[in-house]
Amino acid sequence: MATKESLVSKLARGVKTAFKPSNGTTNAKADRATPLLDARKSGVEATPKMLQQAAKDNMFLHFTRHSPYFTAKGEIPIITKASGHHFWDQNGKKYFDGISSLFSVNIGHGRTRLADAAAKQMKELDYFPLWSHAHKPGIELSERLLSYAPKNLSRVFFTTGGGEANETAWKLAKQYFKMIGKPTKHKVLTRAVAYHGTSHGALSLTGIPSMKKMFEPLVPSTFRVPNTNWYRAQDDFATEEEFALWAANRVEEMILFEDPDTVAAFIFEPVQNSGGCFTAPKVYFDRVREICDKYDVLIVADETIDGFGRTGTMFASERYDFEPDMMVLAKGMTSAYAPIGALLIAEKLFEPFKTGTNIFPHGYTYGGHPVACAVALENLDIFDEEDLVGNVARNEAEFKATLDKLRDLPIVGDVRGAGYFWAIELVKDKNTRETFNDKESEKLLRGILSHRLFEEGLYCRSDDRGDPVVQLAPPLTIGRDEFVEMEQILRSCLDEAYKSM
Ligand SMILES: Cc1ncc(COP(=O)(O)O)c(C=O)c1O
Repeated sequence: MATKESLVSKLARGVKTAFKPSNGTTNAKADRATPLLDARKSGVEATPKMLQQAAKDNMFLHFTRHSPYFTAKGEIPIITKASGHHFWDQNGKKYFDGISSLFSVNIGHGRTRLADAAAKQMKELDYFPLWSHAHKPGIELSERLLSYAPKNLSRVFFTTGGGEANETAWKLAKQYFKMIGKPTKHKVLTRAVAYHGTSHGALSLTGIPSMKKMFEPLVPSTFRVPNTNWYRAQDDFATEEEFALWAANRVEEMILFEDPDTVAAFIFEPVQNSGGCFTAPKVYFDRVREICDKYDVLIVADETIDGFGRTGTMFASERYDFEPDMMVLAKGMTSAYAPIGALLIAEKLFEPFKTGTNIFPHGYTYGGHPVACAVALENLDIFDEEDLVGNVARNEAEFKATLDKLRDLPIVGDVRGAGYFWAIELVKDKNTRETFNDKESEKLLRGILSHRLFEEGLYCRSDDRGDPVVQLAPPLTIGRDEFVEMEQILRSCLDEAYKSM
């Protein structure tokens, strides 16, 4: 056994000590089988069975309950190809991509134009960081994003995803207030049940206690205000507008309670995903703007999901005729063909950086990667050429009407959302709106529904971060036939699930 002294001197010499698992087996690389590498080297295609085993042996999947994959029948679904609004698994089974994979593939799968754009960019300029330099696709994409954005936004800071853009927004807000002589403004308000990412800062902004518990203490100074879940507020308010005003006024209450001199920003999604597509009437946005202006609190619209046509306008802020001070973008920017995110900001936040030696000491190696920017530009060309945002706006009423038919099922309490972004809330008793308890929800969503929907070939989100919901966010290319197809699959699965409870 190594003494403390010898271990220290080994580390100082840079000699790595082998990790020894408790059962005494060594984890040294030499002991590992590498069937996929062997196959690759001998020019042989790996079989589905080999891939399945290697996935189980080597991978740690995101947000995944792994235990079912270690049972005799448990198989990790391996997705092999995709085209349009469908994808296929390793067994050749075809699925309808009812959630654009992760609220992301807005133009649909298999667009070779994006692959060509990526290849062209890689051949011309594979990579260069946006650290004191710029590149053509980044410059062009900045102008393009701003051309769709509310007029007060005038600068683009690139990241690789939505969580990083939220981190950036918070850090920029803190530095901005320090630079303009309000150094105590640093706190951020966000909404209950909202998801803003997983890094320590973004997770701290997230309003889902169960997701945070294992990682606390998180970054201090974030505070929750109510979201706009009208379905759960109907008994207490005569109209949705009245409720929305009440919810907006809670923002003022929290700012006053925490002291306006300490509050930097309010971050929220115009249509909140987590909890199930919570929309709000225009009066909410107007009142929030009024309150935040009064106390010099910056508004950040997290449009990670809402952006790029999801709600029937290019950005949801446009739908609600609302001007945030910063806007978080990601997913639909490249339709997920390449990773990218961005923070759009109002010029006043950039002003302090125009003079002297001031810099924003913040950035990401891959933020605004030229290949991702080139892919984003091609993606946006397709948006324009096919008028995808117009397609969503024209079809919203029909999509809603088709899903509304599900309201005749005893398990369907609410159908809500906007554009191509809908949630169906599942209840035990639709008259009283009684929801399922944790155990029942576990059985309903993970025990029955997700499996049944997957078996029926509809990939959508069954979620109980708030009350149980099934969510749809299909590619923006689809229309009437696909609405009907989704409704029919949902109808049979929801009906069956209700009867099995
Ligand atoms: C509203 C919202 N914000 C932030 C994020 C985090 O984005 P990313 O996973 O790209 O970091 C997500 C991801 O789904 C999101 O929905």
